[in-house]
Amino acid sequence: MSGGIQARQCSVDDLPQLHSTWPSSAEVHDRHFAGQLAGTQTLIVAWQRGMALGSAVVRWASQDLTEVLSAYPGVVEMAHLQVRSDVRRRGVGTCLAEAAERLARRRGAHWLGLAAGVDNLEARALYECLGYRRTGIVERSEYCFMDESGTEHQAVEWNEYLIRDLDADPVPDRSRAARDADE
Ligand SMILES: CC(C)(COP(=O)(O)OP(=O)(O)OC[C@H]1O[C@@H](n2cnc3c(N)ncnc32)[C@H](O)[C@@H]1OP(=O)(O)O)[C@@H](O)C(=O)NCCC(=O)NCCS
Repeated sequence: MSGGIQARQCSVDDLPQLHSTWPSSAEVHDRHFAGQLAGTQTLIVAWQRGMALGSAVVRWASQDLTEVLSAYPGVVEMAHLQVRSDVRRRGVGTCLAEAAERLARRRGAHWLGLAAGVDNLEARALYECLGYRRTGIVERSEYCFMDESGTEHQAVEWNEYLIRDLDADPVPDRSRAARDADE
């Protein structure tokens, strides 16, 4: 499936198509896009033939990560990585993560980090593939997620912070989608 997937920064013109092909009842997309308009984060969406397949957010000003920030100065955070369940294991998550890495590099970041649930084996497998390493820093977090009907849920989990060194480990040219990511 990786052919034809494009992961790129969401534009205001993308929003109607995002909503129609991947509805979110709690206006999750709008909230993420509002952060982009405010300049605190970038919303990346993966597309194929006009269908939204997944999304991720790159936060330029991480919050509540004091310990992490002190260990990795200027760390940029990837959050809310989510791929529609009907298109998983086809490289979409990889494309989104690569796009996030590219954006972070363009902004001069040296570290890209994220919080992954200690029980989220799927996500941890993905990040391991992508070269993230464990920090041993574990934090409790409350977060919201969207189920397949577009309903938002609140949850509590323990996350470990994973980190990718963008200097020591340049992003290999793994996908067309990453090349297409644009600020
Ligand atoms: C985690 C998630 C984003 C992965 O997206 P994806 O598009 O399926 O990931 P990819 O297809 O790019 O997977 C790349 C590699 O990661 C690993 N991987 C991904 N999902 C996996 C799973 N369910 N089981 C084992 N390994 C997995 C595999 O090594 C895979 O390569 P392979 O398919 O060639 O074996 C997706 O499962 C998801 O949206 N989960 C729910 C939300 C979530 O947990 N987000 C992460 C928050 S930290």
